[in-house]
Amino acid sequence: MQVVTVNASKKYDVKIGTGFIEKIGDHIAPLMSGKKVMVVSDDNVFPLYGEKAVKSLSEAGYVVSTFVFKNGEESKNITTYNDLLEALFEAQLTRKDLIVAIGGGVVTDLSGFASATFQRGIGLVMVPTTLLAAVDASVGGKNGINLSRGKNQVGTFCQPSLVLCDIETLWTLPREEYINGCAEIIKYSMIVNEGLFELIRDKEIRDQYEDIITRCITIKRDFVEADEFDIGKRMMLNFGHTIGHAVEACSGYKIPHGRAVAIGMAAITKAAVINGYCTEDTRMQLDELLEQYDLLDELKYTAEELMECVKVDKKNSSGMLRIVIPKAIGSCWIKEIYKEECLKWIVLGGAR
Ligand code: NAD
Ligand code: GLY
Repeated sequence: MQVVTVNASKKYDVKIGTGFIEKIGDHIAPLMSGKKVMVVSDDNVFPLYGEKAVKSLSEAGYVVSTFVFKNGEESKNITTYNDLLEALFEAQLTRKDLIVAIGGGVVTDLSGFASATFQRGIGLVMVPTTLLAAVDASVGGKNGINLSRGKNQVGTFCQPSLVLCDIETLWTLPREEYINGCAEIIKYSMIVNEGLFELIRDKEIRDQYEDIITRCITIKRDFVEADEFDIGKRMMLNFGHTIGHAVEACSGYKIPHGRAVAIGMAAITKAAVINGYCTEDTRMQLDELLEQYDLLDELKYTAEELMECVKVDKKNSSGMLRIVIPKAIGSCWIKEIYKEECLKWIVLGGAR
């Protein structure tokens, strides 16, 4: 087992290993002064892992309630959020009690927002079961829900009390969900130079989960500790995301987040080469790694279509936006540009 401690406005451990779900009662005991737990999960994950967690928690003497919703991004909305709050109220959870979120980023984002707001904040344990949630969504305290016309438009920064990343859960992931998580791992390998790029190039990510997930969480931890509220350095974690978010939105969210970020990373790197910020060799190395993980897709939208989505991205402020530009493998920087300038970057990135 590996442990990464995050020392943000709240200090908590991220444990990476196996067998956590069967022993979840032991893991949460030090955090609990109450007796009640609400297990939140989706209808794919609950039968696989939620039931085991409920058993373990009940055997440990906790009063366990469950909230299970339909899987998928469409559920990350105000209706599901409201239903979850009602369920918490119905089960009479108090601030001494805990939400245990078991699932992918949709479950962790929704649970995070509910835990931050129900009774002005109750405890939260994250049990990520997708690779993407393990390396990104479950750590760092961002949570949220979507509005009908905008993703992640409502949310807070609120750190969990504990993250239990049980690698065994990742073995049931569909291939596409595995690939989505790989895209975020490739992103980390491009922003910090700690040999991660070579490690995932030379050996398949799933054959070295514990090491790779620990490295990614450590990288994210460092950015979160330096800039918990995302006003500076943390924005580096958005490499590939400006164009990526626009691709996701243009596809009507049919292209999943990780795959869209991969398209965004390839596009911004192509534009960076043309603008003289990095070498063609860097671009080729990134493209080869993306191809290795089946993530090298065409940017099939027009620059105008993509710009419409960039304009409403919440990373914009007063006509300016920050884009993350690669310098070399493992090294990026943040550049502030006028929104209009973004169109040029998108065109150079290969938009139709
Ligand atoms: P997801 O939660 O929708 O999970 C993807 C699919 O995999 C779902 O159908 C789910 O039921 C299924 N699944 C989950 N675990 C499984 C398992 N172990 N075995 C089999 N099936 C499993 O999607 P995601 O990619 O995990 O997360 C995407 C969400 O995360 C987005 O809403 C995004 O905005 C959010 N996110 C948040 C942050 C953050 O910092 N808060 C960071 C990145 C992404
Ligand atoms: N997923 C990017 C962040 O947490 O800042």
